[in-house]
Amino acid sequence: MTLQGKQILLGISGGIAAYKAAELTRLLTKAGASVRVCMTAGACEFITPLTLQALSGHPVHTTLLDPAAEAGMGHIELARWAEHILIAPATADLIARLVAGMADDLLSTLCLASAAPVSIAPAMNQQMWKHPATQQNIQTLQQRGVQILGPDQGAQACGDIGPGRMLEPAALLQAMLDFYQPKDLPLAGCKVLVTAGPTREPIDPVRFITNRSSGKMGYAVAEAARDLGAEVTLVSGPVHLAVPKNIYCVSVETAQQMLEACQVAVQDADIFIATAAVADYTPAAVASQKIKKSANDLSLALTKTTDILATLSLANPKLFSVGFAAETNDVLTYARSKLERKGLQMVAANLVGEGKAFDQATNALEVVWQGGSTSLPEMDKKQLAHELMQLISARYHIWKLQDGTH
Ligand code: CTP
Repeated sequence: MTLQGKQILLGISGGIAAYKAAELTRLLTKAGASVRVCMTAGACEFITPLTLQALSGHPVHTTLLDPAAEAGMGHIELARWAEHILIAPATADLIARLVAGMADDLLSTLCLASAAPVSIAPAMNQQMWKHPATQQNIQTLQQRGVQILGPDQGAQACGDIGPGRMLEPAALLQAMLDFYQPKDLPLAGCKVLVTAGPTREPIDPVRFITNRSSGKMGYAVAEAARDLGAEVTLVSGPVHLAVPKNIYCVSVETAQQMLEACQVAVQDADIFIATAAVADYTPAAVASQKIKKSANDLSLALTKTTDILATLSLANPKLFSVGFAAETNDVLTYARSKLERKGLQMVAANLVGEGKAFDQATNALEVVWQGGSTSLPEMDKKQLAHELMQLISARYHIWKLQDGTH
């Protein structure tokens, strides 16, 4: 989830919290938004336009009647450009001027001249915030559809303690992300954890045991989950694939590292999809130096790795866990036994061997769950991932309804 391409006009008015607008600009930009900054004269007393110019990458707008600025992006043009106006901090004075519909400086004029949604983060002394005039102004703005973010409680720059602190930049970023989170997609608000690719189990500093998994199916599943509105974390072994957009990707090498990364990510996950081809065995000891060949044969002692899927699924009964199974025969029988053994809600099984599945562009799946199954015929992995994800989403919602504990 990001603000990719969102055109946000950040208005800064004159309060001590203005310095936090620098961090906010950085966070919004990092989240993909295009940020233009408008500062009131008061704001320029607290933080320099140059700082905001450097962070937003654009000249900062400060005055209404500036021929130079009007020759570039005029105020009406700027008002039209804005897809969202975020004012942080919003002082009591600015709030009052917005209520009165004033156009006595650039920021208030932009608010009047724009049809974009407006969010404000009030910041002021706690007594000013509690004053009936301010409270009434806030109510009026709310009735007009302005989103009020905060304020926070706590120690204030003036020494008082109470409500009036501006929300932290990270909380303001989150509010923007929430505002634009697609709400009608089936997995909106859901967190999905996906493992993908092979793992690499070191033998010595130059050798390792791995497998032929390309990660294509897992990456396609992660993208399909994202496209259904989920917030996706992808824990990936070494693959030759680009990091998908708007997906949080954690790169790992070994089965143990994959387990540890998943243990962190699973804490707030709703759905876990294990597509990774995790090594079942790892060398019992990693030689610290390259193993030299000798006249004799070499045997490697291998120990079992932890089953990431079974461990996480059995430890988290509220997690909807989906496993993959690669079989050369008796696909459905093995898939059902995996469902039971690993405490899963769903298993997607495919036939491997003879040029099937691994490193191929197409795949087919038999999907089983408690009391049902379906076949997804051979198709492009991206399309297959999309159909599988729709099935997972549908079964997940039914499962949650069926079980009152979720
Ligand atoms: N898995 C895992 N951690 C492991 C091994 C497997 O999370 N250490 C997951 C895989 O990501 C996959 C499923 O478990 O979702 C595969 O189960 P597995 O028992 O390895 O089945 P197969 O690969 O089909 O192998 P086997 O024939 O040995 O059952």
